[in-house]
Amino acid sequence: MNVMGISGTPRKKGNSEILLRYALKPLKNNGWNVKTFLLSELTIKPCNACESCKETGTCIINDDMQSIYYAFRWCNAIIISSPVYSRNVSSQLLSVLDRHYAVKFDKPLEGKVGGAIAVGRGTCGGQTITINAIYTWMLSCGIICVPGELNGVTAVADEPSDILNQENRLKQAEILGFNILKVAKLLQK
Ligand SMILES: Cc1cc2nc3c(=O)[nH]c(=O)nc-3n(C[C@H](O)[C@H](O)[C@H](O)COP(=O)(O)O)c2cc1C
Repeated sequence: MNVMGISGTPRKKGNSEILLRYALKPLKNNGWNVKTFLLSELTIKPCNACESCKETGTCIINDDMQSIYYAFRWCNAIIISSPVYSRNVSSQLLSVLDRHYAVKFDKPLEGKVGGAIAVGRGTCGGQTITINAIYTWMLSCGIICVPGELNGVTAVADEPSDILNQENRLKQAEILGFNILKVAKLLQK
């Protein structure tokens, strides 16, 4: 079984990237193959609305998104994390979500399971809106959204790696990973 993770922060060792790694741990420990895409290291341009994908089913922009398109097909589950930017997902992540448009008729993610993580500096800084933005995208791809302990995993943190001092949040991210495992196994039956 295969899981892909997308970290939407442009910062290395960002808090949302760390939580993503914790969420992926239970899957890795259960023998799943893990591919992690760090948007801090990749170049993914925004969709330019050329609409050529309507004819070809592929995206004309030749950048790192091509390996994400491949992983959409390869994976059985997907976990996405984002920092809260302007009470929404980061623009780096939004480019990835938009670029799914090119393959939407193929439905490469349909029936697969997904989870979401959002980190902002403010209490009520827009974490819930960010989780909802990711869930809405997932649902439009036909992904079955899996919660953490209660809902998507949200956290309050600011400086890179601050989240490592929040034992409870790290545990919440792991619970998301365990729940993804559970639902994926149920779907296999
Ligand atoms: C451009 C920008 C916009 C931001 N907007 C918000 C916001 O609306 N709400 C919030 O709580 N934090 C906001 N923040 C703070 C980040 O969400 C916070 O630093 C978070 O830890 C970033 O995640 P990361 O550590 O994974 O990079 C913003 C930061 C930047 C750089």
